Amino acid sequence: MHPVRARIVGTGSYLPQTIRTNHDIEKMVDTSHEWIVARSGISERRIAAENELTSDIAYAAARKALDMAGIEPSEVDMIMVATVTPDMLFPPTACILQHKLGIGGCAAFDLNAVCSGFLYGLAIADGFIRGGNAKNILVIGAEILSRIVNWQDRTTCVLFGDGAGAVVLRADNDSDRGILSSHLHADGQYGPLLRIPAGGSAMPTTHQSVDDQLHYISMQGNEIFKVAVRCLTEVALEALRYNHVNQDELKFFIPHQANMRIIKAVASRIGLPPEKVYTNVHKYGNTSSASIPIALDEVNRKGLLHPHDLLLFDTFGGGLTWGAMLARW
Ligand code: UT7
Repeated sequence: MHPVRARIVGTGSYLPQTIRTNHDIEKMVDTSHEWIVARSGISERRIAAENELTSDIAYAAARKALDMAGIEPSEVDMIMVATVTPDMLFPPTACILQHKLGIGGCAAFDLNAVCSGFLYGLAIADGFIRGGNAKNILVIGAEILSRIVNWQDRTTCVLFGDGAGAVVLRADNDSDRGILSSHLHADGQYGPLLRIPAGGSAMPTTHQSVDDQLHYISMQGNEIFKVAVRCLTEVALEALRYNHVNQDELKFFIPHQANMRIIKAVASRIGLPPEKVYTNVHKYGNTSSASIPIALDEVNRKGLLHPHDLLLFDTFGGGLTWGAMLARW
C-alpha cells in the first residue's frame, strides 16, 4: 500500500482550426515574421471561431481527457477551469461546462492565477485527493485570448493564442505514481506589469474605458521577461531539490509556453539538454493557462511517456504568479 496520490489518468486538448500566421499579422500591425520569430519563437497561433466559447473549447478538451481516463462525467467529483477569458464574469465557466457535460451536483469553479492557473488548479486538486475528499477531478486550462488582445497593439497581439487542455486526476494508492509535490508562489508588487485595467470593480466598463482601450491586455514584456527567467529557474530547482531529484532523472521538462527565449534561458540555467525540453510555442503562441495541459497532451498522445517517467512542470504569469510541480507518470 502506498500513500494516496493524485495520478494523471487522462489528458485531452483542443486547438481551434483557424491558424493565424505571423504573415497574417504583418498585414494588421507594423511587425515582421522575422521579428516575432527572433524575439519569441512563435510562427503561428490558433484563433477561435466566432461562435466558439471558452466553455466549448474546455468541453472538447475535457471530453478527450475523460475518454482516455475511461470514466463517465458522472464519476467526476470536482471541475476546475483555470481561465482569464471565462464565458462571462459569472456564472463560472466550470459550471457552464458541467452542464454541457450533462451532469450536476459536483463542485465546479473557475480559478484565476493567469498563466499559472492550470498548475495552481492541479495543486489544489492534489490536496483534495490526498486529503481523501475527492476521487476523480477534472482540471482544465482554457483560453480565448484573441478576444482580450488589442489587435492594433503589436507589443502584445503577436504573442497570444487560443486553446484548451485538460487532465483527469484520480486517487491512486496502488503505486508510487502521481503528483509528488507542488511549489506555488506569487508577488503582487509586479501586478501592473501584466493586466487588463478595465472591466473589474476598480474600473467598471464605460464608453470612456472602451475608447481608451483599457479592456485589453496591457503588458510590459521586457520587465516581465527578466522576472520570468529568474522565478521559473528558482522554482524548478526548488521542486527538484525538495524531491532529491537530479536533472538527469527527468524525462521531460514541460514549461509554460510564453516565449522560446525564456524557455531556453531557463532550461540552460537548470542544466537541461534540449531533448528533455518540450516546446510547441512556435505553433500555438502563448495560450496562458492552457499551454501546459496542451503540451502534456501532445507528449502523451505521441506515446513519449512511460509509467514512472518523471515530469517537471514550470509556470509563470500575471499576478505575478509562478510555480513548479514534479510528477511521476
Ligand atoms: O505568459 C507570461 C507573460 N508574458 C510573458 O512571458 C512575456 C515576456 N516578455 C517577452 O516575451 C518579450 O519581452 C517580448 C517578446 C514581449 C518582447 O521582446 P523584447 O526582446 O523584450 O523586446 P522589447 O519589448 O524590448 O522591444 C524591442 C523593440 C522595441 O523598439 P525600440 O524601442 O527598440 O525601438 C519595440 O517597440 O521592438 C519593438 N517591438 C516590435 N517590433 C516589431 C515591440 N513589438 C514589436 C513587434 N514587431 N511586434
